[in-house]
Amino acid sequence: MNVVFLGPPGAGKGTQAEAISKQAGLKHISTGDVLRAAVEAGTPVGLKAKKYMEKGLLVPDEVVVDIVAERISKNGRAKSFLLDGFPRNLNQAKVLDETLKRINSKLDVVFYFAVSEETAIARLTGRWICPGCGANYHQAYMPPQKSGICDKCGKALQQRPDDKVETVKERLEVYKKQTADLIEYYERQGLLKKVSADRGVEEVYREVIKALDSLTKGK
Ligand code: AP5
Repeated sequence: MNVVFLGPPGAGKGTQAEAISKQAGLKHISTGDVLRAAVEAGTPVGLKAKKYMEKGLLVPDEVVVDIVAERISKNGRAKSFLLDGFPRNLNQAKVLDETLKRINSKLDVVFYFAVSEETAIARLTGRWICPGCGANYHQAYMPPQKSGICDKCGKALQQRPDDKVETVKERLEVYKKQTADLIEYYERQGLLKKVSADRGVEEVYREVIKALDSLTKGK
């Protein structure tokens, strides 16, 4: 069951991907996480990506597609995957199709997490991340037990540099101009499942798990 999570920044893709990949035994590939780790490590990819990420722009395809193609090809068909944050434009979607074809595999479902712009902004500007273990919080919706401190590893929480309100607005514009076309691309292929992501974390989780269960049974 190869899965893509599509949707605007702040739709809750990362939160759901973390839980659902564990529950469903899928390999979670988040291009945002991979790029942030590269920036942190100061690798050549990270140095290239940083200036785009800070501005809320997409990192050029030539940097991103190889990262994903390599991970999928290496894994082969050993484990199904959940792609979170990729593809983000038509070119990336086509590269993904070709990569899967090469390993005799295909996409099974694309979950489109639909959320209002107002909700997305409120979620992103209130998000806090643990630099130690990567746990994700929200100051109002998913607060840590002790303000500013990670429940899991005790490190001080940080805000993502691209979660400042102006950068969030830019990211939402980039999504509308470059990524939203993928909704129609996958709808035409009969792969799209729309999830109303304005609801609570648990409700969204249950809907996706239920849909995955019925797709697995129908295979
Ligand atoms: P990336 O890390 O992928 O960011 P994004 O797509 O903008 O998504 P976010 O992580 O901001 O939001 P999310 O939907 O995962 O929400 P989350 O679950 O965290 O990409 C970052 C950058 O990397 C891009 O801007 C680009 O520069 C580059 N990049 C990445 N992939 C690329 C690609 N393929 N091509 C080119 N460039 C690429 O939730 C957000 C907050 O809301 C959290 O605080 C969470 O606790 C809370 N929350 C989540 N769900 C709920 C809920 N149901 N109710 C209440 N609160 C909730």
